[in-house]
Amino acid sequence: METGTANNSELLGNSIPIVELREIIKQVAPTDVTVLITGESGVGKEVVATEIHRLSKRSGKPFITVNCGAIPEGIIESELFGHVRGSFTGAVESRKGYFEAADGGTIFLDEIGELPLQTQVKFLRVIENGEYMKVGGTKPEKVDVRIIAATNKNLEQLIDNNSFREDLYYRLRSININIPPLRERKEDIRIFFNYFVDQFCSRNSIDFKGMAAGAMDYITGYDWPGNVRELRNFAESIITLNRDKKIELNDVLKHLNIPKQDQYLPAHINGYKQQDERQLLFGALFELKKDIMDIKHQLSAMEDMKSSNEPENGFYVSDEKIDNITFDEFEQELLTYYFKKYQGNINKIADKLKISNRTLYRKFKLYGLKNGKVY
Ligand SMILES: Nc1ncnc2c1ncn2[C@@H]1O[C@H](COP(=O)(O)OP(=O)(O)OP(=O)(O)O)[C@@H](O)[C@H]1O
Ligand SMILES: [Mg+2]
Repeated sequence: METGTANNSELLGNSIPIVELREIIKQVAPTDVTVLITGESGVGKEVVATEIHRLSKRSGKPFITVNCGAIPEGIIESELFGHVRGSFTGAVESRKGYFEAADGGTIFLDEIGELPLQTQVKFLRVIENGEYMKVGGTKPEKVDVRIIAATNKNLEQLIDNNSFREDLYYRLRSININIPPLRERKEDIRIFFNYFVDQFCSRNSIDFKGMAAGAMDYITGYDWPGNVRELRNFAESIITLNRDKKIELNDVLKHLNIPKQDQYLPAHINGYKQQDERQLLFGALFELKKDIMDIKHQLSAMEDMKSSNEPENGFYVSDEKIDNITFDEFEQELLTYYFKKYQGNINKIADKLKISNRTLYRKFKLYGLKNGKVY
């Protein structure tokens, strides 16, 4: 259970569903009507519940969040409704339940689908007439509480499985606020991302170096299966790991565990639905051009090696070898050479080869070059 008056968390977003959502919240907040909030995990159900309380006449009173899925079945009734002394072994004192603690305010029952069937009957009674019985109690208690429930489950399916009462469902459903997943309101992604970045950077005194355009395009086009929560975690962790540099598309892909070769495949192209297709093509062409340039540089380096006649002064690959060597073998030879030359000092080698320490570290691992030296 979390208690306290609702915090000042803002309900962000400019997409049509969010604008409509704000309108509905404004209408329901001043009333005492019971609200059911539905939507996938991480879409902002708790944010909406908090906002309803904040805009209600109960805002100065308690806002109590109860996660029904986190309370063991055996004690849930006593937790919700309280118990009287001696009502069961171990009940040495009477105990207030969450409903009583929320009196005058709002109770937010999260994961309502997890409520055991027999508790659902009692819950329905509180909704209907504000009455409940303490465990072991003999007379009904009265409470003045506004009820908000939430679930990411399909309650109709739970009814079919006989784990949710139909009457409770119809009672709850009269005002149902459904929050669409982030992938259906992609206009909001940029707003959320910028907000989370600003908030995180100012809290942690980080001087944000910005995002490359391609990186931002990917973020705003991505589907975010974990919704706003995933986006928030992503924003905070990518900044933590790249605090000294501008964030590039590659950092984003790596962070989202998207293999480089998959970034333009149809599954991810879905993410670009609202983007200009030409932009996508330019992106692909740009990558291609970069790859060609890389190969060109490597080839000319190989040519130089071939014509170099000073094996003892530098990196050297013999003539017979160079005609059959693969790109990876060449890279391995080159890195092994510098590894030995600089005694595994990653900073020096990275500087010499103009690649990042991170990439170099990865390649050393790949080629089994272990360094006990500076990293
Ligand atoms: N509209 C919004 N404005 C600001 N922050 C939001 C918004 N929607 C979600 N968030 C943020 O996203 C995170 C997840 O939101 P929340 O906990 O409300 O999701 P939820 O739907 O209750 O998820 P779950 O089903 O997993 O409990 C929180 O950090 C919250 O602050
Ligand atoms: Mg929640």
